[in-house]
Amino acid sequence: MKKILVTGGCGYIGVHTIVDLVQNGYQVISVDNNSRSNPFILEGVEKITGKKIKNYIVDLCNFDDTRAVFEENKDILGIIHFAAYKAVGESVENPLMYFENNLVSLINILKCSEEFKVSHFVFSSSCTVYGNPDSIPVTENTPLKPAESPYGITKQIGEQIVSETVKQGNIKAILLRYFNPVGAHPSTHIGEIPIGNPANLVPAITQTAVGKIPVMQVHGTDYSTRDGSCVRDYIHVSDIAHAHTLALDYLISKKNKTNCDIFNLGTGNGYTVLEVIAAFEKVSGIKLNYTLGPRRPGDVIAIYANNDKAKNELNWIPVYDIEQMMATAWKWELKLKNDENLFSGKNIILN
Ligand code: WQD
Repeated sequence: MKKILVTGGCGYIGVHTIVDLVQNGYQVISVDNNSRSNPFILEGVEKITGKKIKNYIVDLCNFDDTRAVFEENKDILGIIHFAAYKAVGESVENPLMYFENNLVSLINILKCSEEFKVSHFVFSSSCTVYGNPDSIPVTENTPLKPAESPYGITKQIGEQIVSETVKQGNIKAILLRYFNPVGAHPSTHIGEIPIGNPANLVPAITQTAVGKIPVMQVHGTDYSTRDGSCVRDYIHVSDIAHAHTLALDYLISKKNKTNCDIFNLGTGNGYTVLEVIAAFEKVSGIKLNYTLGPRRPGDVIAIYANNDKAKNELNWIPVYDIEQMMATAWKWELKLKNDENLFSGKNIILN
């Protein structure tokens, strides 16, 4: 069986990727210290796939504990490394916590990859590495500008650590640059569980709609865009998940062109904040309670992907459109609200 180690496997993108890996014939183990996630989300994986997923509750910043997982699993064929802190605002307030957690964990997992000769490595990166691009859509060759936050810096440095590490030796890596992952698995057995007040747009929309928060604010309507609000490339989390399976297949079948291929994971379409809100109102039938507020510091004005390389080389085709993204996000929010037992008392902080 092709065993894959997924770090951050109880996280939003991690858990969706585990479902896709299992449905495509991989055996999966998760490593997640659950500092920002809930191990019970893996019950959702079992409901969808019938497979129970083992999670090692390990802090990847502890090298010995990380190494012990590899000692116990000598047959790991590949690694997908998601585990990292990812709140942009928090990273501005606490940069050292972000540099330590995101980079030490990456270094430890790479050291184990080398020692245990795990030669296929997929790194979870982000469009945030592009900073404020001079031209859009961005391709994988678009020059990187200064990142807008310490979180973005950890992704830029993380990419460099991976690409330098794999220059020699036998690890083959892929860097996947996600644009804005949104939505939830159509089964509503898994989805995003924001901790505290949601900073990201789509959870802010759905939590406002369901009444968890009274009102949301549009951060800026005076940008040089078609309606004044920021443009992003929203991409369904299940489409992102499937790209990881295709990336592993690509590496294992030795189709990689270099030791560190890079792919943009976006739909290639940019939507403004106000357009996303309109799409949500259309699919939910709810008039959203929002105000028009000032710009949010650090926001990129507009970015969306040229995804030709992932389409042509990974045979990756994103299938969800913006209305389906909103519909699955809404179904999941309603599930969280209606199924109080889903995570109540299971040490998850649901705001
Ligand atoms: C999108 C747009 C906001 C909330 C960040 C990271 C990226 C990834 C996703 C980790 C912006 C506006 C938001 C609200 C709003 N993180 N907005 N009101 O900042 O593009 O990307 O999160 O993987 O790496 O950089 O996503 O959803 O926070 O914001 O108007 O209540 O929605 O100003 O224009 P962002 P976002």
